[in-house]
Amino acid sequence: MNVHGKPTRTIWLHPENPAIVQIIDQRALPHAWVIEDLLTAEQVATAILEMHVRGAGLIGATAGFGMYLAAREAARSDNSAASIHAAGQRLKSTRPTAVNLAWAVDRQESAMASASSPGELVSIALSTALEIAEEDAASCRSIGGHGLALIAELSRSKGGAPVQILTHCNAGWLAFVDYGSATAPIYAAHDQGIPLHVWVDETRPRSQGAKLTAWELGQHGVPHTVIADNTGGHLMQHGLVDLVIVGTDRTTRTGDVANKIGTYLKALAAHDNGIPFYVALPSSSFDWKMRDGLKEIPIEERGSEEVKYADGMADGRHLEVLVAPADSPAANFGFDVTPARLVTGLITERGICSATEPGITALFPDKA
Ligand code: MRU
Repeated sequence: MNVHGKPTRTIWLHPENPAIVQIIDQRALPHAWVIEDLLTAEQVATAILEMHVRGAGLIGATAGFGMYLAAREAARSDNSAASIHAAGQRLKSTRPTAVNLAWAVDRQESAMASASSPGELVSIALSTALEIAEEDAASCRSIGGHGLALIAELSRSKGGAPVQILTHCNAGWLAFVDYGSATAPIYAAHDQGIPLHVWVDETRPRSQGAKLTAWELGQHGVPHTVIADNTGGHLMQHGLVDLVIVGTDRTTRTGDVANKIGTYLKALAAHDNGIPFYVALPSSSFDWKMRDGLKEIPIEERGSEEVKYADGMADGRHLEVLVAPADSPAANFGFDVTPARLVTGLITERGICSATEPGITALFPDKA
């Protein structure tokens, strides 16, 4: 996607030093553009844990590069297999819900198992990290192409009036290597000149919608409006939403969708108002082993301070302010699960399918 008018990705190798991985520190957005250098697997783990990078696809791609840095470290150690495994376990422990993280670590570990020398270990790890990142971008690009058809159809049915799309959290370019999942169809439609407008859920407590989705849509020139989290139902009741598209951090083989907390309520409201509710995802976000999202998907719980405090800029300074009574306890569940029955369809890199096991495995027959 374009940032300051220039095509940019969310993770890359330092152009002059392949021992350094570079990321955008997303904690500073939308107010500052900060590039961070990651030199060790432990620094990568911290960047994921403390959400310098976040979003399912980008967490996976970053873990892939983390395993590359782990391979560089292991190549200098006496027991490289143990050192790589320990780095993989550490990376996997950072965030539990996005399945892309474990998927990328496992893919790296099995690729590296065939290495017969330290040099080969590092080169396999590097090519696998680059492949994971390239595939992520390519999948999101294809998701854009498939989802574009939905928006184009709605545009025709509205006689060219702007298609009103609601999205939650940030399943955008910043949550992946490029394009995003939920936003890819939006960018594709906008680039084709289809008039549209995006309602951006603020997405408390970390406000990924207000901070990140609004910023990236703005960078790309897509008309949008930030709304408080509780606004979607009202907009739907008044005919102001034509389509909901969200992302996912983990979707079961039966179509249950874990996504940022609050997604389920939007799905309920969409269902009640007869509004299509789509989930966009690359296949790396399917958990092929799980069938029951409510019972099986681990839900991350984060610190209560994220709920009790709000943050932003004042007079050029980043400020955190206490919103709730200092003594009140707060609970911070990061994700919820939307049951498959509330999902109109899944937009994947291979096409659109129903949120059912037969629908999903018809597109991915190797997983049947
Ligand atoms: O906690 P985050 O910011 O890593 O959460 C991920 C998300 O942004 C959303 O849940 C998103 O919709 C799915 S990730 C593509």
